[in-house]
Amino acid sequence: MKKTRAVQGPFVHELILNRDRVASFDKYPYSLPPIRSLSRLKLHPQVTFLIGDNGTGKSTLLEAIAVAAGFNPEGGGRNFNYSTRASHSSLGDHLTLVKGTSSPRDSYFLRAESFFTVATQIEIMDREAGGGPPIINSYGGVSLHEQSHGESFMALLVHRLGGGGLYLLDEPEAALSPQRQLALLRRMHELLQQGSQFIIATHSPILMAYPDASILQFSAEGIARTEYQETEHYQVTKMFLDDPERMLALLMAPDDQY
Ligand SMILES: Nc1ncnc2c1ncn2[C@@H]1O[C@H](COP(=O)(O)OP(=O)(O)O)[C@@H](O)[C@H]1O
Ligand SMILES: [Mg+2]
Repeated sequence: MKKTRAVQGPFVHELILNRDRVASFDKYPYSLPPIRSLSRLKLHPQVTFLIGDNGTGKSTLLEAIAVAAGFNPEGGGRNFNYSTRASHSSLGDHLTLVKGTSSPRDSYFLRAESFFTVATQIEIMDREAGGGPPIINSYGGVSLHEQSHGESFMALLVHRLGGGGLYLLDEPEAALSPQRQLALLRRMHELLQQGSQFIIATHSPILMAYPDASILQFSAEGIARTEYQETEHYQVTKMFLDDPERMLALLMAPDDQY
């Protein structure tokens, strides 16, 4: 009997920036410190979190990984080839992905900010499609526009993501209540047990607690690996929740007392 090889991550071990092909490190996106100092970046076989302040380049790098992996840079599955924006950065064309021995059987690039566009695109493709089951069936069957942002996100995570996949998520917590973020952790765990790999840009101290993960901190110094309890997200949230009254009093004190 012929044996089929199990699909198993990691699908991407490492990123290499082909620096000699970059014309100038003075322009976006190459001027961003994490990109300017990038040569090789190792990814965790299960979960890699990209964290750091707003504007440090997390989405830029995630989008470039999506391009290098053959995804639509605007989000969606690999068969989504629509385009609503004029351009994405050329970074993806200069990235080499060091791949594992198997290819993912599933893939998805989830961008919180363009999920609305994906939902619309599904409706358009289902209206135009001849034959074949509607795409919305693989998202649970209910139009993503007829659910709340959080509900449609969860529908995607539960129904559309099938395991054995490479999943790129950009701030998936944006639409999710704390309770649903816990549900996302659980769903990630299931998908990881089915041989998936995640790369996730996040600000959520709940999500970044996933134990089998590497946390990469983006900053003006570049990209550095850090530990969960060392992250600003963990420390600030903990300090606040340990004593909200004290933190609020400090924040709201007149300038000369601060
Ligand atoms: N198309 C673009 N052209 C020029 N600058 C951009 C473009 N897109 C994003 N930027 C800038 O690059 C920086 C990093 O953006 P982004 O990757 O979205 O950050 P993050 O996801 O970490 O918040 C920001 O300062 C942003 O203003
Ligand atoms: Mg971003």
